Amino acid sequence: MKALILVGGFGTRLRPLTLSFPKPLVDFANKPMILHQIEALKSIGVTEVVLAINYQPEVMLNFLKEFESNLGMKITCSQETEPLGTAGPLALARDKLLDESGDPFFVLNSDVISEYPLSEMVRFHRSHGGEASIMVTKVDEPSKYGVVVTEEGTGKVERFVEKPKIFVGNKINAGIYLLNPSVLDRIELRPTSIEKEVFPKIAADQGLFAMVLPGFWMDIGQPRDYITGLRFYLQSLRKREPSKLTVGHNIVGNVLVHESAVIGEGCLIGPDVAIGANCVVESGVRLSRCTVMRGVRIKKHACVSSSIVGWHSTVGKWARIENMTILGEDVHVCDEIYSNGGVVLPHKQIKSSILKPEIVM
Ligand code: GDD
Ligand code: MG
Repeated sequence: MKALILVGGFGTRLRPLTLSFPKPLVDFANKPMILHQIEALKSIGVTEVVLAINYQPEVMLNFLKEFESNLGMKITCSQETEPLGTAGPLALARDKLLDESGDPFFVLNSDVISEYPLSEMVRFHRSHGGEASIMVTKVDEPSKYGVVVTEEGTGKVERFVEKPKIFVGNKINAGIYLLNPSVLDRIELRPTSIEKEVFPKIAADQGLFAMVLPGFWMDIGQPRDYITGLRFYLQSLRKREPSKLTVGHNIVGNVLVHESAVIGEGCLIGPDVAIGANCVVESGVRLSRCTVMRGVRIKKHACVSSSIVGWHSTVGKWARIENMTILGEDVHVCDEIYSNGGVVLPHKQIKSSILKPEIVM
């Protein structure tokens, strides 16, 4: 089987991290977001992944060369010269997706995280015999998403409304699809939206079916959701592969520490923390509900909570970083600084406290 991952978009809502890397390469739980998806695809026997790209292709291509050989699967790029939306890229990659097998193929949004129950999805797709399957999940705030109304019992989609202004329902499109090759005949090569132009038509032809996604789901394309997503992800890791989580007298709740990271004496870490490769956390540090990306140094007695510390940054002694502070790549926070929700662009040095949420350029 084959898969296409939609890797376009500028990732503006995840700046300043996406100023350094395209969104799919931003680390989540110590590996690039897209690797979570590629590994899940590989585990159910997908042999070829097409990345639909329109932004920073060189960076993606370099990254891919490394992972193609590590994972032993074919990964190719389909590069747009103009953004083609969420359906146009399928038309562009048509020849890569079609083969003699006639098998359905997966399409994934690149910024969602879940347990990827893809083999269940294949079974579901076979059982209903329709043209397309989508995963749906329940959320509290459906207006940010594509809302799906289904027939009780069969899962047949009656309506698909992208970002509805008035309440339609609370089941939303999770951004994971399994499509028959015939869906490609419905898509023209131009900027077009699968959610607005393709799914409503397949639904009208009675060919779109929705499966409720078991387990957790999160679109991690914005900081608050990214931090909540890490909590869900670690909770699920606790159930599936508890040995991957760190244990110790200084660890509270679910914590993921890269094997190359060094943690000093007298720290208290957790819950819901990810610490990346080659990080140094000096003594007496307190970390909770945060991501510390590879190469970061957190100096003595600093405290980081509900925040993201970007690659190779440093947080000074006795500094306090909290309330959705996002430090871009290579940011240096001086000793004793307080940041309340600061969003700091890459390569900055922070010498005075940030007292209220603001962007520091
Ligand atoms: N190649 C390519 N070209 N990819 C694109 C383009 C483009 O022009 N525009 C967006 N994408 C990719 C994004 O990178 C992302 O992986 C996916 O398409 C969806 O785009 P988002 O910008 O993240 O959309 P959204 O989050 O507002 O809404 C989508 O996802 C929701 C679930 O998270 C929709 O599919 C909703 O229906 C869905 O509920
Ligand atoms: Mg999104």
